[in-house]
Amino acid sequence: MTFDVHTIRSQFPALTSPDGSVYLDSAATTQKPLCVINAISDYYHKQNANVHRGSHSLTANATAQFEEARRQVQRFIQAKQHKEVIWTRGATEAINLIAQTYARNTLQAGDEILVGEMEHHANIVPWQIVAQQTGAKVIKVPMTPDCQWDMNAFHALLSSRTKIVAAAHMTNVTGTRQPIEAIIQAAHHYNAVTVIDGAQGVVHESVDVQNLDCDFYVFSGHKLYAPTGIGVLYGKLALLEAMPPWHGGGKMVQQVSFDNTTFAELPAKFEAGTPNVAGAIALATAIKWLAEIDQTQHHNHQHHLHQQLIQGLTALDEVVLIGLQPNSSVVSFQLVIEGEVIHHQDIATLLDQQNIAVRSGHHCAHPLMDALGINGTVRVSFGIYTNSDDIKALLHALTKCIELL
Ligand code: ALA
Repeated sequence: MTFDVHTIRSQFPALTSPDGSVYLDSAATTQKPLCVINAISDYYHKQNANVHRGSHSLTANATAQFEEARRQVQRFIQAKQHKEVIWTRGATEAINLIAQTYARNTLQAGDEILVGEMEHHANIVPWQIVAQQTGAKVIKVPMTPDCQWDMNAFHALLSSRTKIVAAAHMTNVTGTRQPIEAIIQAAHHYNAVTVIDGAQGVVHESVDVQNLDCDFYVFSGHKLYAPTGIGVLYGKLALLEAMPPWHGGGKMVQQVSFDNTTFAELPAKFEAGTPNVAGAIALATAIKWLAEIDQTQHHNHQHHLHQQLIQGLTALDEVVLIGLQPNSSVVSFQLVIEGEVIHHQDIATLLDQQNIAVRSGHHCAHPLMDALGINGTVRVSFGIYTNSDDIKALLHALTKCIELL
């Protein structure tokens, strides 16, 4: 389908409702197209049943759709096998799973986990927890002053002690596209395992996990136009097979007795309890929907929006751009009036009063804020539905904020 933002927008009820906001917070969560909303609604209206349990036709049908959704994700990220796709609640849970299974069982005292300074807390704290449990160390890979992964520092930190390298595909505060190909290659040179947080990255470019050769890749459905509460852990088969289970319960077992419990094959081994069936089906629906849209045209559109936004922001003397990246769908800034930084929350509130939704704060990236010596930013982020009028409205509202302040 040719990219036409008007047609795309018309498919998002939250954006077309008369009291809808100018939504510029898609890095926090995206709005949902009607086909995704309908997929959830249809599932509960017509098909609701548990999966991989029982023998009635409703459960057989639900199981078939649930497993087809897994295969849809497999194709989407080019995984070799469907068994390499594990459903989780989101990217955060997926990283915790890796930390508490792979890492907890392989790390030893003195081993090192290299983690980027610009990472989201979800890609820092699980490593700190497992480091405490094992005696391993979390080592920061610094960022450069222009908010890039510092490749020289990274090379200097890599050693035979490095066991895990964790990096975001795209960071959530500045939208930096990190050099994950080079990171993975360098980590593998030291036999370190790579964990890529794709929560933001998977939304903006196609991912081929085999080509990347990453060991783990995680993402959340809700940033990809699907609902909250569903996410994906991709892992290389040999790693997943060697990892012990994490959560115990139904479906992740072969045989349970008080003497000896044996565990199910992949992917069930990591999917204890009743999963988010509707969420998985809705995520597959979102992926199919996105596949129908010309992504080159979409990227061109985003490029124009980025230019329009940056031109507008740089025309305002009071705006200080933070870690600006070319063509990014994420732009952070501060307002400085008469030498004083205006609190990001105040700006977001004033914008909200003018019906503009942006995120303000530290964006779950305290170390990045510390590195920049700031305590927060106002963050504007685009979705596939963002149009030129949204940017105009933001710039107009921001100008009014400045006048008011
Ligand atoms: N990680 C999400 C964000 O950056 C919630 O806003």
